[in-house]
Amino acid sequence: MTQQQPIVLAIESSCDDTASAVIIGGKIVANLQANQSIHEDFGGVVPELASREHMKHILPLVNECLKRANINKEQLDAIAFTRGPGLVGSLIVGVNFAKAMAIGLDIPIVDVNHMQAHVAAHYIDEPTPQFPFLCLTVSGGHTQIVKVTDHLQMEVLGQSLDDAAGEAFDKAAKLFGLPYPGGPTIDKYAQQGKAIFEFNKPKVGDYEFSFSGLKTSILRFIEKEQRQNENFVEDNIHDLCASVQNTIVDILLEKLALAAKREGINQIAIAGGVSANSELRKRFEQLGKENGWQTFIPQFEYCTDNAAMIAIVAHYKYLAGDFASQSVGPMPRLKL
Ligand code: KG4
Ligand code: ZN
Repeated sequence: MTQQQPIVLAIESSCDDTASAVIIGGKIVANLQANQSIHEDFGGVVPELASREHMKHILPLVNECLKRANINKEQLDAIAFTRGPGLVGSLIVGVNFAKAMAIGLDIPIVDVNHMQAHVAAHYIDEPTPQFPFLCLTVSGGHTQIVKVTDHLQMEVLGQSLDDAAGEAFDKAAKLFGLPYPGGPTIDKYAQQGKAIFEFNKPKVGDYEFSFSGLKTSILRFIEKEQRQNENFVEDNIHDLCASVQNTIVDILLEKLALAAKREGINQIAIAGGVSANSELRKRFEQLGKENGWQTFIPQFEYCTDNAAMIAIVAHYKYLAGDFASQSVGPMPRLKL
């Protein structure tokens, strides 16, 4: 028999952070993660190292999470996990851990779509958006404008044709010789700079995005400037970061404003790792005021990858009786 106040353990292992959360009756009572600093030396996530790190972290992390939630594993009603999208070797660790633990406890499992979970981060704390709302989900792997009509009902209106917004930040940072992940560093440096340089904006369909050209545009620009001053990047790092950030934020908000207008929706949210960006947050709020939107920005801890967002999706799927079978496997390219 299913519970009305279910106790669910959630596991997220789609990329390079192992995360675990416990949700009781829709309220997050523990939310932990183990970050993987091992990738810093390589300038990006190394998939084999990521899965090995997940295997190292997952058991102690889950035990600590149950302890913080003040419950024992026999009290759990279900175990949820990220099924995709993500790195297959990383997903396998979370999926198999959840399946094995659920067999041992004789409880159901709930599979969760990571992109749906980024949007659902908005249901964790009040105030929550009313349906229908639009969500601009901007992460390291995706850039999407999503129309949300119910907790689990959502449709992608438009997305990136190539690189994601987070990838654009990370690739720009790499060109500037800054460490991975580049987004937070660009954000920090940009605060002391001015957006004085211009980069081309892509011409794509109405709700579509394209960021792969931005990298080439930045590269050509710095190559040209370095012919006059070989230290151009070092000498102008703050202004370069502010300019790149400004261009990415411009592109994102222009499309979001268009979608809001055309769809006639004024409940507007942002989500995903890039929604932690201070310029995006500030300008999104401003744009909201100008257009009479009610704006929703997740708390920092629910922007980048976390298990609380997996747990909240699992809560609604549990109430709907939507469980996965034990034959379920990871889906690295799972669509929303
Ligand atoms: O959602 P997320 O944690 O993982 C994925 O599902 O991909 O997003 C990670 C992305 C990275 O590209 C990272 O550089 C970017 O989010 N990011 C930021 C900021 N914090 C994280 N980008 C810009 N400004 C930030 N403050
Ligand atoms: Zn993510």
